[in-house]
Amino acid sequence: MNHFQRRDGELFAEEVPLAALAAAHGTPLYVYSTATLTRHWKVLEGSLRGLRHLTCYAVKANSSLAVLSLLARLGAGFDIVSGGELYRVRKAGGDPRKVVFSGVGKRDDEVAFALEAGVRVLDVESAEELARVSIVARRLGKRAPVALRVNPDVDPRTHPYISTGLKGNKFGVPVEEALRLYALAARDRALRIRGVAMHIGSQVTELAPFLDAIARMRGLVDELRRQGIAVGHLDIGGGLGIPYEESEEPPHPDAYGAAVKKALRGFGGEVLLEPGRLLVGNAGVLVTRVLYRKRNGRKRFVVVDAGMNDLVRPAMYGAFHAIEPVGPPAAAEITCDVVGPICESGDFLARGRRLPEPEAGDLLCVRSAGAYGFAMSSQYNARPRAAEVLVDRDRVLLARRREAYPDLVRGESARPRPRRFGPRRGLR
Ligand code: LLP
Repeated sequence: MNHFQRRDGELFAEEVPLAALAAAHGTPLYVYSTATLTRHWKVLEGSLRGLRHLTCYAVKANSSLAVLSLLARLGAGFDIVSGGELYRVRKAGGDPRKVVFSGVGKRDDEVAFALEAGVRVLDVESAEELARVSIVARRLGKRAPVALRVNPDVDPRTHPYISTGLKGNKFGVPVEEALRLYALAARDRALRIRGVAMHIGSQVTELAPFLDAIARMRGLVDELRRQGIAVGHLDIGGGLGIPYEESEEPPHPDAYGAAVKKALRGFGGEVLLEPGRLLVGNAGVLVTRVLYRKRNGRKRFVVVDAGMNDLVRPAMYGAFHAIEPVGPPAAAEITCDVVGPICESGDFLARGRRLPEPEAGDLLCVRSAGAYGFAMSSQYNARPRAAEVLVDRDRVLLARRREAYPDLVRGESARPRPRRFGPRRGLR
């Protein structure tokens, strides 16, 4: 259920017509719905009632301050993968004590930033990282709260680029190695073991892979406890999929919650979750304007003003995003590719799509763009990035102004004669 619905033929975001938003803020425009996001949060939390848990929203899905701040107010913790994401969480008023720091490649400065900020736990992904975290903690006179991200070796049956819990993926450590590393960590005074973590992949549309992985993690937790290692929490990651097409029916959060609760019965610790897409995916749309229609040979194209730099998912994963007119749909339908202005044939939002025939100047709504939409956008082809607005009933927050040309060159230098590079001068 989302709050992007039609009224008298016109698409609205809550109580505001998308066309009015496009008129006020231009296109391409990301539009988020407070009611939808809040509802997704409440449905998930409701499904977990009775389970001692902390839901740590995966910031990477949508790291806009307005979204983070809304989630912070709802009581969310945060799953971060960089110092930059921690910076954003703090800017948005998030509580560092509810922050989980994941990721395979943390730099020393990021580890130090996280320790100084007092994050709840660092999810460590290799023996070498564990050693570095210990060194950085000692240098700061702190004890680093750690969990090991364990690779459960289950197949989440999703797109290969976003499956992470298989042996051949770069993520996590194998169960056997985890046992050895926990023993090491337990003897290290600069480390404090907090729990065990896993994450199997994203856009997972079945429950079985989650349950298999949780069962494997429980085996590990039991073994660790037998060895006298206290495991305070189990982080089961994120990854629950959302419906991108009407025909898709990933498990409802209620089914997920019930299954998770059952799989964790008797665990006796806190459960951490890291959902991203589930919370924000269908709470956002991308509004774009039709520039031209054209035909090449047999093929029909609708050229719009949003490109792969604005929404890369179709180009990168062959992902499907529903597209529909913002205004009343025309009666005639066409089959077309919806493409952007970027100079690459991979720059498409949809291929071979049936659409009510649009005209130049019409607005189209690209659905399910709240997760990994703006967050993955770039300035490729020197295109200023889109604006973002957050709607709350009849109120509209300009969450991020549209970039202008000067934003494209901020921080750049083209000095014809650079300064001499020397030890004291450094790189200028
Ligand atoms: N936790 C960890 C450690 C992760 O790596 C991820 C996602 C999540 C949580 C959140 O997963 P979610 O609940 O959102 O599925 N750009 C891709 C998705 C990449 C996901 C990466 N990791 C896409 O657009 O489909």
